[in-house]
Amino acid sequence: MKIFTVSRVAGFMWLWLLSALVVTGAAPGPLQPEAARERMVLLRGQVAYHDELYYKKSAPAITDAAYDALKRELSVLEQQFPALVAGISPTDSLGDDRNGTFQLYRHRERMQSLAKSYTESELRGFNARLGRQLQRNDLVYIIEPKFDGLAVSVTYERGKLVRAVTRGNGIEGDDVTVNALTIADLPRELSAKAPDGSANPVPDVIELRGEIYLPWAEFKRINVEHEAAGEAPFAHPRNLAAGTLKLSDPREVAPRKLALVLYGWGAWLPSAGLPVSQRAFHAQVRAWGLPGLAGYSVGRSADEVWAAVQEFDRLRPGLAFPVDGAVVKLDAVVLRAEVGATEHAPRWATAYKFAPDRAETQLLAITVQVGRSGVLTPVAELSPVSLGGAVISRATLHNADEIARGDFRVGDFVYVEKAGEIIPAILGVNVARRAAASRPFQFPNACPSCQADVVRVADESAVRCPNLECSAQLRRRVQHFASEAGVEIEGLGPALIDALVTKALIRDLPDLYRLRRDDLIGLPGVVRRWRTGS
Ligand code: IVH
Repeated sequence: MKIFTVSRVAGFMWLWLLSALVVTGAAPGPLQPEAARERMVLLRGQVAYHDELYYKKSAPAITDAAYDALKRELSVLEQQFPALVAGISPTDSLGDDRNGTFQLYRHRERMQSLAKSYTESELRGFNARLGRQLQRNDLVYIIEPKFDGLAVSVTYERGKLVRAVTRGNGIEGDDVTVNALTIADLPRELSAKAPDGSANPVPDVIELRGEIYLPWAEFKRINVEHEAAGEAPFAHPRNLAAGTLKLSDPREVAPRKLALVLYGWGAWLPSAGLPVSQRAFHAQVRAWGLPGLAGYSVGRSADEVWAAVQEFDRLRPGLAFPVDGAVVKLDAVVLRAEVGATEHAPRWATAYKFAPDRAETQLLAITVQVGRSGVLTPVAELSPVSLGGAVISRATLHNADEIARGDFRVGDFVYVEKAGEIIPAILGVNVARRAAASRPFQFPNACPSCQADVVRVADESAVRCPNLECSAQLRRRVQHFASEAGVEIEGLGPALIDALVTKALIRDLPDLYRLRRDDLIGLPGVVRRWRTGS
């Protein structure tokens, strides 16, 4: 393999190796201050690196659970060694999705993140803390789904939609108004009604906070289209929603039917109109004609809250939208003001993250596929295993770096995780079950289709086949060209393309237009089609 530039990849290799350790569950024991300092420096680097991939590139390299594990480990160390917290820690930060291509807009009120809970006792602790702070044992909570999309702030002035802005760094975000306007259920104007249907003047200014996401059905539709075009499917609706919202041309955004849900607010002027509770807010949002939250629960004790959260987890597979947890919010707005907020999150709410579905299975083989631009994508062929309601037998390994990061070897028993995503991710290896004779996977130096020496392009994880005449690339290019995303040639499917390329009837796309009737007769699907059509 010719490696043109490895600098950035090599620079991050140690980070990946480290994240593999965390992912495979090497829990740190009690550390001495010097070791803790070193570990914290490493963890900060990792979190910053994965933040960049997740927020700016919409292309995470590790699962949410693995990322959360990094942040939690750092957070525990920061609590144990407060003297070692240097400046602003990434555990406090809420990421930054600004990508430098949109006009920036400053939110009137900051967009905060949410504190997270991962266990029943943490959730009970949240309730106990609020009870102590407010000196009450009659607190009422609203339990909402935690939508897995991209946070936005939508501003209406005197009832007219004026702007949609991403969270950005919480202070200012990307102005994505033109793209948000493609969302069918985002009204340009509020209907001046109260929840009971009576007339109700709209606020002078309101910043509504919510999530832009892709419903599962739409995500699946886009992936079917994408795969028909010979392209690797998108791994997760969240990344696809974020990537779509950040496209520069709204005409490309419109066909992907993004959706919006509103679950909170920032500025509300005049403030006399503020709702008294989260329930009243939801009712008002719907009365205005906006996409409000259809299903939420009410919890009047820690037991009821826990039961409601578990119920959401149970219902999750049947929901039409991607959800990665439940958000528990104090209902009464006046009590929220009393407990206030930390630098990055309100104290009156917590996000309970659902544990992803995980299973162990054997990695039978790693096959390498060639895409239409020549990129080699390794695919894990797995011993079929049931996960999240589906039988999984394949998982993408993304690229050569991902394989090196996890040291995934053929024959290994691997942990597969499916956190709602259609494409399962391989988390790590059960090293205890590794065969003594196993060897690290050697990424091919030659294209599996045309045997050309592969190349690695500067600043990319991708390894490519550089041969423009490579038949695997040609097949993929023709597939893409003939698909709905291209010029849509009916009947020109993979089998026919295969035959045309194998028989050297097409060597490039223009050859498609030089084909004659006689060339086609007898090829897969052609004769039967013509006979039934005549
Ligand atoms: S309330 C002040 N409610 O989760 C915090 N957030 O991890 C306001 N999210 O930044 C957020 N569903 O992007 C809230 N029902 C819901 C949510 C929700 C998804 C997102 C939101 C937030 C992130 C925190």
